[in-house]
Amino acid sequence: MKAETIDWSQLPFSYMPLPSRYEAVFQNGCWQEKGLITETEIRLSESAAVLQYAQSCFEGLKAYSTRDGQVVTFRPELNAQRMIDTCRRLVMPEISIEMFVSAVDAVIRDNAAFIPPYGSGATLYLRPFMIGTNPVLGVRSADEFLFRVFATPVGPYFKGGVKPITLTVSDFDRAAPRGTGHVKGGLNYAMSLYAGHQAKAQGYAENMYLDAATQSKVEETGGANVFFITSDGKFVTPDSHTILPSITRRSLVTVAADYLGMQVEEREVYLSELPSFLECGLCGTAAIITPVGAIHDHGKMIEFPSGMEKPGPVCLKLYDTLLGIQTGQVAAPEGWLHRVL
Ligand code: PLP
Ligand code: COI
Repeated sequence: MKAETIDWSQLPFSYMPLPSRYEAVFQNGCWQEKGLITETEIRLSESAAVLQYAQSCFEGLKAYSTRDGQVVTFRPELNAQRMIDTCRRLVMPEISIEMFVSAVDAVIRDNAAFIPPYGSGATLYLRPFMIGTNPVLGVRSADEFLFRVFATPVGPYFKGGVKPITLTVSDFDRAAPRGTGHVKGGLNYAMSLYAGHQAKAQGYAENMYLDAATQSKVEETGGANVFFITSDGKFVTPDSHTILPSITRRSLVTVAADYLGMQVEEREVYLSELPSFLECGLCGTAAIITPVGAIHDHGKMIEFPSGMEKPGPVCLKLYDTLLGIQTGQVAAPEGWLHRVL
């Protein structure tokens, strides 16, 4: 694929192999950097830990073209730290924050022709991931691992961008109370595939998962955190140990409080409260901010007053401010933008 032939405004959220990616391998207790490579494929033992026992984890972040011609990533050290936390939970070796960030930077610089231009609505998505590579047969961790970072230009995760979507409350659980919902292991996504497939077959964009223990509290969707706007203008977002600590959500908490002067509540959110909220949105690197117009709950439809036609006014303000920060139109808090080019 030649960069000049890409219609940035029509890009889907899908994989396009770019010229180079970064690789490091972990053997005999230490990381060896292979640096940038062109090979897209990975050759593995049929008994590799990733194939038998799903020992894999990943991250997702984006490179943004700014208004004044720079290229930046958004709080990449938080992705690195989350990967460290995930690796600890999944018995995988840690990658230092410095190694993670410099690997991401190297991939962006080497594939610079594929960074979507400012204002195109597209971005360069970075996918750092790690897998257990050596053969295992009994259930145990690998002791050899591969870390890669690839990049791919993407458009919005949900078709239509900032157009409201409809969710459905899932009958399946995403994360157990003492499970792995708070880390970014491939296993969390594998077990959401069936539920996601069911939701889409019924015409919903995504599932809304409830807490496994009581089935009464809102958690998140398969690939994004969730927030609500109350009738008195508060930003409310679930506080739970079993959801992924979204970097977008943590940033929106600051944007809502410090940029938009809103009151913020990070607390348990009950399914029974949903009809009282004015707006609902999903937030994540891929999802950015996706307004939610309605949530289907076992035959009942919870319809937010913001409706299905356009994003609610607060969702829109949050979207514009966050994207403004990421693309250099709005002053960013100290340390939020990492300049790559
Ligand atoms: N929740 C889940 C399950 C996710 O997969 C993601 C995406 O990474 C998020 C939330 C959003 O996290 P972030 O804002 O760090 O991309
Ligand atoms: C991301 O937002 O980066 C994710 O990893 C979510 C995934 C569902 C694409």
